[in-house]
Amino acid sequence: MTTKLSQELQTEVDRRRTFAIISHPDAGKTTLTEKLLLFGGAIRLAGTVKGRKANKHATSDWMEIEKQRGISVTSSVMQFDYNGNRVNILDTPGHQDFSEDTYRTLTAADSAVMLIDSAKGVEVQTKKLFQVCRQRGIPIFTFINKLDREGRNPFDLLEELEQVLGIRSYPMNWPIGSGKQFCGVYDREKTRIELFQGDDHDKIEVQPVSGYDDPAIKEIAGDYLYERLCEDLELLDVAGDPFDMEKVKQGELTPVFFGSAINNFGVQTFLENFLQLAPKPEPRESSAGRIEPTKEQFSGFVFKIQANMNPAHRDRVAFLRICSGKFERGMSVKHVRAGKEIKLSQPQQFLAQDRDIVDVAYAGDIIGLYDPGIFRIGDSLSQATEIVYDELPTFSPELFSKVTVKNAMKHKQYQKGIDQLTEEGTIQVFRTIGFEDTILGVVGQLQFEVFEYRMKAEYGVDVMLQRMNFQFARWLVGPSIDPGKFRINSQLVKDKKDNYVALFENEYALRTAMEKNPDLQFLNVAP
Ligand code: G4P
Repeated sequence: MTTKLSQELQTEVDRRRTFAIISHPDAGKTTLTEKLLLFGGAIRLAGTVKGRKANKHATSDWMEIEKQRGISVTSSVMQFDYNGNRVNILDTPGHQDFSEDTYRTLTAADSAVMLIDSAKGVEVQTKKLFQVCRQRGIPIFTFINKLDREGRNPFDLLEELEQVLGIRSYPMNWPIGSGKQFCGVYDREKTRIELFQGDDHDKIEVQPVSGYDDPAIKEIAGDYLYERLCEDLELLDVAGDPFDMEKVKQGELTPVFFGSAINNFGVQTFLENFLQLAPKPEPRESSAGRIEPTKEQFSGFVFKIQANMNPAHRDRVAFLRICSGKFERGMSVKHVRAGKEIKLSQPQQFLAQDRDIVDVAYAGDIIGLYDPGIFRIGDSLSQATEIVYDELPTFSPELFSKVTVKNAMKHKQYQKGIDQLTEEGTIQVFRTIGFEDTILGVVGQLQFEVFEYRMKAEYGVDVMLQRMNFQFARWLVGPSIDPGKFRINSQLVKDKKDNYVALFENEYALRTAMEKNPDLQFLNVAP
């Protein structure tokens, strides 16, 4: 029987799209995000869009350290409506100093938009974020940006997607020239060209054509570019992958769009195609089996905890991804791990100064919950019966430091701080075997700074960090583990759950250890 609620849930889920933009700093993520928001008439902005360079502060400067650096440390969420869709963009910090939060945020997204600078191609940070999306098997859409500048040959860029990332591509449109000669793009599906003309690109200027070899294109682009376009598209038609929606859904084929975010060129076409092709919230795995987003019972999981959003109150906000049902302000839900019933009376769309109160929300939406210290990353909340979502992966840190407390008298507060910050997911902590030294692991340098700052500000403890040469960790699983076999450019430690972990200085050290320990599995996420 379809109830009124189930109809409502179906409609709301169908129109939702929740995605993250993944890119390397400077590819134009802020610019693209701003343009998308402009199309949508944003209804809720979670603070940012990020402040450009040091002098333009983001409105989400929740933490003192954000103010000092003039960047947005934390991921935030933006919501807008477009053509009947409700769109949630999960922002991932674009700065070099991104953190494990960035990875975790991707677990709350249903798809990703990979933004690439046409002159630079696939860069380090894009690669790392891509791998997390790949592990989750979510669809990935590509926007190749800055076509108004001289960039690389589009075929080279597609080749790089395949060689470096291992993903095949389907260009939805194709550039006609680039840099000073950039005339626009040919839309393969709609057989039309979008013209890059004049200064005002807010309105798309389109010209329908009979195909890429329509002589009308020659008149606009000139002989040379016309011939190149014909050659390129012929080649694509013959040798390129066909469009295959199933492969897109599996994250094996990425639809590619070319454009220029700063000129607002190609952004609207991208948005419209994306909303059509991108998945709505999908069922998620849990202890109670697969949970449909249209299930009437409300459920969700915490993927991020933000401390000190308001330094005056020292409160924390837990970010919850709704996975099913309808959220209503004031509702009571089960906090499954704590075995408690809690009332969600102050949910926020966590917006900078004036935090918006959310009254209703559905699967795909993100809400911020006031957290008096009761939530941990990965916690599940559900209505009536218990639903526990699969644990969020713990990713391998990439930077390591030995930590000691300067004043031994403060040892108790130091321990408390470490425990709490580990629980929040601010840092990962490892202990050496025998000596019980503490080693911190993080994904971005800024996490160390945040750690030092918060130990001092919140626990009154001065710490000393001593950088180590390790570059990554592998969780070890196997019958017996011999510390003697992890001595060369590596070290055996234990994580907070007492799992054995080996830290390595380089790939070579890892390979050597794997050869010496054929019975062991070396996992790049915690078991
Ligand atoms: P990010 O968030 O990915 O770090 O990138 P952001 O949007 O801040 O863009 C990085 C730089 O690239 C900015 O220039 C921005 O104006 C420029 N940019 C973005 N899209 C395009 C594009 O389509 N074409 C061209 N030519 N440039 C683009 P900046 O000089 O570093 O900053 P600003 O002084 O313009 O703020």
